[in-house]
Amino acid sequence: MTPARETYPQPLPQFLPFAPPLVGPEELREIASTLESGWLTLGPKTEAFEKAMAAYLGAPETLAVSSCTAALHLVLRALEIGPGDAVITTPLTFVSTAHAILYVGAYPLFVDIDSQLGNLSAAKVSAFLDKSARPGPDGRYVHRDSGKIIKAILPVHYGGFPLDSTAFRELALQRRLHILEDAAHALGAQRGNAKVGGQELLAPLGEGLHALSAFSFYATKNLTTAEGGLLAGSPEILQKTRVLSSYGISDSRRVWSRRHDPLGPPPPAWDYDVEALGFKNNFTDIQASMGLIQLKNFPLAQAKRERLAAIYERAFQSLGDLAILPQKEEDTIPSWHLYPLRLVPEKLALSRDALKEKLLDLNIGTSVMFRPVHTFSFYRDFLKIPLGTYPEAERFFETTLSLPLSPKHSESQIEEASHKIRALLLYYAR
Ligand SMILES: Cc1ncc(COP(=O)(O)O)c(C=O)c1O
Repeated sequence: MTPARETYPQPLPQFLPFAPPLVGPEELREIASTLESGWLTLGPKTEAFEKAMAAYLGAPETLAVSSCTAALHLVLRALEIGPGDAVITTPLTFVSTAHAILYVGAYPLFVDIDSQLGNLSAAKVSAFLDKSARPGPDGRYVHRDSGKIIKAILPVHYGGFPLDSTAFRELALQRRLHILEDAAHALGAQRGNAKVGGQELLAPLGEGLHALSAFSFYATKNLTTAEGGLLAGSPEILQKTRVLSSYGISDSRRVWSRRHDPLGPPPPAWDYDVEALGFKNNFTDIQASMGLIQLKNFPLAQAKRERLAAIYERAFQSLGDLAILPQKEEDTIPSWHLYPLRLVPEKLALSRDALKEKLLDLNIGTSVMFRPVHTFSFYRDFLKIPLGTYPEAERFFETTLSLPLSPKHSESQIEEASHKIRALLLYYAR
């Protein structure tokens, strides 16, 4: 049933940004202490941050790098995925997920999203493999059209709504795939007792197959170090990735450990080896100082996100069938990175774009997450994928708007904004 029409809402007195970072004097003090220590780049604080993150996640090991994009790129290299190979991913993601596959010369194979949440499903990927691939000689699957060997699956925990990682692990084992989760949004997300990035989901699959998660600490993310990324996974593959993140130097931590461990063994020789064509993607101690404080305050920030999401949920109950609220799957804890509100176009005389504009007039900042990768001109030209190929992702994009959500916002700000959003939608109800 469609509820009664509302009067047009008045703007908020002040602009409500979409995702402002929550940082404060504690971060400032910790950054200042790093600056005063004289050691600015990769060093002891990075190591402390990696250990603290591994402890928080319950991960076998973690590796901090310059961004989530770099994490995805480097680990695909460490897994020796390259030209001749293909990686399955979702079209509903930030472009860097697909870019990382192309950086290593591999071919991205998109599978359409399945659920209301915007995630890939293991069932749909399995159906894709049955239809579009054939088993190759070593048990790997070969993509029929391109002849590429499908080596990995790169699903995204969209908005921080956790994927069914257990189902993906089973699929990966059956089909001989590495699993690399893009967990850019998903720090703090959980399915059952298993944290995204934790040991239960990242234990090696056996037969040389690995499972890894990649997080982002970009400015808008649930935990931020301004820029930054982190891999969680097995020590074996992370060590290879670590070398690739610092030019390919075998012992990239040697420089700071010599300086910072006065009680340790005598300084090693000046010489070092470069064992691979590595990159310059290391983390810095300035980022780590921010990260250590953000991690200490993370549980509080997450609890706030959950309360803010509950405010939206309550306010939007009365929208009836005008919009689809983000669904929390049973026995999961989303990280609430996003609050993606999905419009039902048949019920509203207002497009997603018009809603975005009108909310801006009401002083409410929003964001569109995401334009599907295959619709960008580069991907259109490069992969020649026509519009309409992934209808679920395309429809999700066309009808979804992510609402302001950050632990920096107060409950009353979100309460007030949610009433205005509701009033606007009711005003345009058909
Ligand atoms: C789903 C997803 N993957 C990857 C990234 C890339 O993260 P970073 O900016 O740390 O490289 C983002 C960034 O916004 C993202 O949203």
